[in-house]
Amino acid sequence: MSTAARKRQIKLSAYLVGTGMHVASWRHPNAQPDASIDIDYYRKLAQTAERGKFDIAFIADSLAINEQSHPNILNRYEPITLITALAAATTHIGVVATASTSYIEPFNLARSLMSADHISKGRVGWNIVTTRDLSGNTALNFGSKEHYEHAHRYKRAEEFVKVVKGLWDSWEDDAFIRDKESGVFFDPSKLHRINHQGEFFSVQGPLNIGRSPQGHPVLVQAGTSENGQNFAVHSAEVIFSIKYNLADAQLFYRTFKEKTAAAGRNPDEIYILQGIFPIIAETDEAADVKRKQLEALITDEQGLAFLADYFPGVDFSPFTLETRASETGIDRLDFAKSDYVKHQPVIARENPTLRQVYSLLTGSFSGDHLVGTPEKIADTLQQWFEEGAADGFMLLAPLLPDGLDDFVNLVVPILQQRGLFRTEYEGSTLRSHLGLPVPAHPGAPASAPVSS
Ligand SMILES: Cc1cc2nc3c(=O)[nH]c(=O)nc-3n(C[C@H](O)[C@H](O)[C@H](O)COP(=O)(O)O)c2cc1C
Repeated sequence: MSTAARKRQIKLSAYLVGTGMHVASWRHPNAQPDASIDIDYYRKLAQTAERGKFDIAFIADSLAINEQSHPNILNRYEPITLITALAAATTHIGVVATASTSYIEPFNLARSLMSADHISKGRVGWNIVTTRDLSGNTALNFGSKEHYEHAHRYKRAEEFVKVVKGLWDSWEDDAFIRDKESGVFFDPSKLHRINHQGEFFSVQGPLNIGRSPQGHPVLVQAGTSENGQNFAVHSAEVIFSIKYNLADAQLFYRTFKEKTAAAGRNPDEIYILQGIFPIIAETDEAADVKRKQLEALITDEQGLAFLADYFPGVDFSPFTLETRASETGIDRLDFAKSDYVKHQPVIARENPTLRQVYSLLTGSFSGDHLVGTPEKIADTLQQWFEEGAADGFMLLAPLLPDGLDDFVNLVVPILQQRGLFRTEYEGSTLRSHLGLPVPAHPGAPASAPVSS
């Protein structure tokens, strides 16, 4: 079926990370504390997501850690290695690995991603990041003192992606003849060198691996800064964003789609997946108890020490983690930290407890609209999908495996009954799940959208 003929349905991606997004999730009674380095555990997560007919199993990454890092990232697998193992344990779900454009050569990455794409039979995606230096010591692992400055990172990323895509097209699809009779293995006219000479890279090519069953891995991106968005409108096919209310998500969605159209691309061929942190239970009250149970695993000492470090100059000694943000003044600080600029409106609007602020700043905050019964969660997703806020969702379960199990067992069937989500995979490649066209080889006639 072509992209246009297919009914628009929700796209789903599962963020697989150890015991879940919540910083204290590893302490939960249902959590397996060594999950982030247990391949059997990851295989099961990917299989659960596949049972739920998810489009994507997603693996994030960073390139440095320190003592304050999230416990789930202190001891974990390199993403392309991991998705290759997950591909071998599944048959349909797309597997997306994060890889940075800032600290590797494009040839290496083009090669390993394309290898994984072949091994998975066309199910790989690349989450292109320029690397957020959360630990403050990333550059020190790569022979530099300073992390590249933001605009520089994105300039490099643009050239990096151009080189990678060029390398992926080293061989035309019918270049390999392998004719035993005549002794002709390949057609030299269908082998292309990119001979790239740019500001950052000098790469001759060709790549020593041809195109995969889906042509190229799907390009995914999650930078929501101005530079990040400008990069994405030219390069990405799927993007992730996190917004905590409908109006903000709608504004982002509309603005981004307009930018995509202005850049000369079809806005329907770039999917916006909004990150969600749902907590699901039989009743809204039971879900709230679940949320509180998870939040209670943060110790006062740990939480207040983090906040004191994050907000230098604020004295947290009179407060506990139950204190509301407005009593501490952190909701109205004039404070130019980029992370805070993003979170300050949420803190001002919701007036969360310091416990919840800690969850928000460490990447797991379940707004009230996503804490409740499966019907309530499904209603919210349906509304966001139908009212111009999202093409789909990235499930960032605060607790794993419970959060993924609950979503697959309880929310997915509701979305399916409402005709909002697939009941079977339509094809076998990630591009076919997403309804994205196979990129035409520049040396070959344009190919039609995937329809297998
Ligand atoms: C769902 C999601 C997943 C992300 N995964 C990663 C990741 O694995 N590695 C990373 O460095 N940044 C990750 N990010 C953050 C962005 O890629 C980006 O680094 C961050 O937004 C800063 O870039 P920006 O300044 O362009 O916004 C993720 C963001 C979202 C919303």
